[in-house]
Amino acid sequence: MTATPAPPELKARHRAMWGLGNYARVADELIPELGQVIVEACEIAAGDRVLDIAAGTGNAAVPAALAGADVTASDLTPELLEIGQARGSEAASITWRVADAEALPFDEAEFDVVMSCVGIMFAPFHEKAAAELLRVVRPGGRIGLVSWTPEGFIGQMFATMKPFMAPPPEGAQPPPRWGDEAHVRGLLGDHVTSVRAEKRTVAVDSFETGAEFRDFFKACYGPTIVAYRGIADDESRTAELDAALADLGDRYLTAGTMRWEYLLLTAVRG
Ligand SMILES: C[S@@+](CC[C@H](N)C(=O)[O-])C[C@H]1O[C@@H](n2cnc3c(N)ncnc32)[C@H](O)[C@@H]1O
Repeated sequence: MTATPAPPELKARHRAMWGLGNYARVADELIPELGQVIVEACEIAAGDRVLDIAAGTGNAAVPAALAGADVTASDLTPELLEIGQARGSEAASITWRVADAEALPFDEAEFDVVMSCVGIMFAPFHEKAAAELLRVVRPGGRIGLVSWTPEGFIGQMFATMKPFMAPPPEGAQPPPRWGDEAHVRGLLGDHVTSVRAEKRTVAVDSFETGAEFRDFFKACYGPTIVAYRGIADDESRTAELDAALADLGDRYLTAGTMRWEYLLLTAVRG
């Protein structure tokens, strides 16, 4: 697998982006069930040494700790880890560690389980992140990934925002490709066995209209905030993005519920 060196300014930009707004509200109010989904899929049990990559505020790390595992929650963005760490007693038993998914500060085969809940997908160099994930899980250990699919709602939100954003750095791959089973199988290659992949949806019933969804993301979600900042001095582009996101939200709303598709993929390290 090839290693693409990532410029430090890119990491700083990504860190700053995820620190914007209020990501904790996204995790807590919209997708809390995904943490439990991944913990169950990985069959996490007491005593397991678990690494959560791109853990954010601990959406998956906390239920893993509640299951009795010895959990390390790692993320590029210290502000999010600090929010998680400041929470109740389960969070207190977690080791919170700032770490880039593309350069993990952990030993080879250090963990029984390595998981990432809509997290590792945002590291731009997929081969590098996958190689790091494979390096730190022990032979026979479990891997669990929840990733937004390209054709699902969040994949479509990124597709909608793309024309309004600065082009990604050379060699970077779009996050929702981690939601494409064939792509992930290719990344993990013959380093894993027992791959199981399933598309599922999470129901989100926090919005009555597409405009409500848009305004929540404009206020809380780092990538959306960055998209708007880039066109802040252009009223007509801003109005265009406003309309496109509201329209997208409306198209996915049925009787006050949206269904956001994700890929749940589990595997065993060979
Ligand atoms: C959508 S959030 C998911 C957080 C959490 N896993 C959850 O389920 O709520 C994406 C996370 O990826 C983190 N992230 C982005 N790029 C990263 C990288 N290169 N290495 C580690 N974490 C990264 C962000 O800081 C953010 O916490």
